Amino acid sequence: MFTEGRIERVRSIVAEAKLAGKKTALVPTMGALHEGHLSLVRAAKEKADFVVMSIFVNRIQFNDSNDFANYPKTLENDLNLARENGVDLVFIPDEDEIYHDHKTYVDVEGLTEELCGAHRPGHFRGVFTVVSKLFNIVQPDIAVFGQKDIQQAVSIEKMVSDLNFPVEIIIAPIIRENDGLAKSSRNVRLDAVQRKNAVSIYNALSSVQKMIEGGVCDYQKMYHEAEKIILEAGAEKIDYITLADYHSLRRIDRIKHKAVFAVAAYFGGVRLIDNMIIDFDGEKIKCVL
Ligand code: PAF
Repeated sequence: MFTEGRIERVRSIVAEAKLAGKKTALVPTMGALHEGHLSLVRAAKEKADFVVMSIFVNRIQFNDSNDFANYPKTLENDLNLARENGVDLVFIPDEDEIYHDHKTYVDVEGLTEELCGAHRPGHFRGVFTVVSKLFNIVQPDIAVFGQKDIQQAVSIEKMVSDLNFPVEIIIAPIIRENDGLAKSSRNVRLDAVQRKNAVSIYNALSSVQKMIEGGVCDYQKMYHEAEKIILEAGAEKIDYITLADYHSLRRIDRIKHKAVFAVAAYFGGVRLIDNMIIDFDGEKIKCVL
């Protein structure tokens, strides 16, 4: 496994791999790797012969400077995990290389006004900008993102289509702890009680899943059920509990087409997100948590 921090060097390593006929996948990360990231690597390896992982804590996507300062940094462990899981190249640029005298930003209108976008001003502009840069630097055939950040994944699909990036986007399923809590780099910031209570987000989604699969299509009913479960478990704040159209990510009142039901809530000052995709299997509704 190589590690590299220089853009030109990464380009030439990837070009060499492509010349040797290898399909290349990119797994963009901010480090602090956990099982969720490794599942993205596995999804990449299923589709590609050469897997590049980027590790870059992208300051411009943090709307809260505390969150940036507290973001866990575990580079040595990350490199071991990347190596053990068959990553071929880890790209670790420094901030100056990525943003030296930077004046250009990328945005996707409309898809980021609700859900997390409504609560994290500037966040998605920072994500789309760095992801565009990574696509241009690495020039992968495939890039893998997690369902857990569903607004990010769906908006990046739209960005790729609108800006004609020759990259196929794969959305990999959410990886969960044994009790159902979605894996996240932020989970380590929960104490034992908060960690136990945080599983209520998953319990809320599971309960709403049962309602939907039992025929409930009305958002208000889903909202009240999820809100009750999460507040009873002691969440300090709920940013949103939203039913949205899958493609436009606009709020909807009833399920008619493919949709997403998503939650963001705080436990112990830690903002946690989770979601399920609601899709149709013929006439039958199926929820993917
Ligand atoms: O999902 C993340 O970890 C980040 O938003 C990403 C895609 C690596 C961009 O910084």
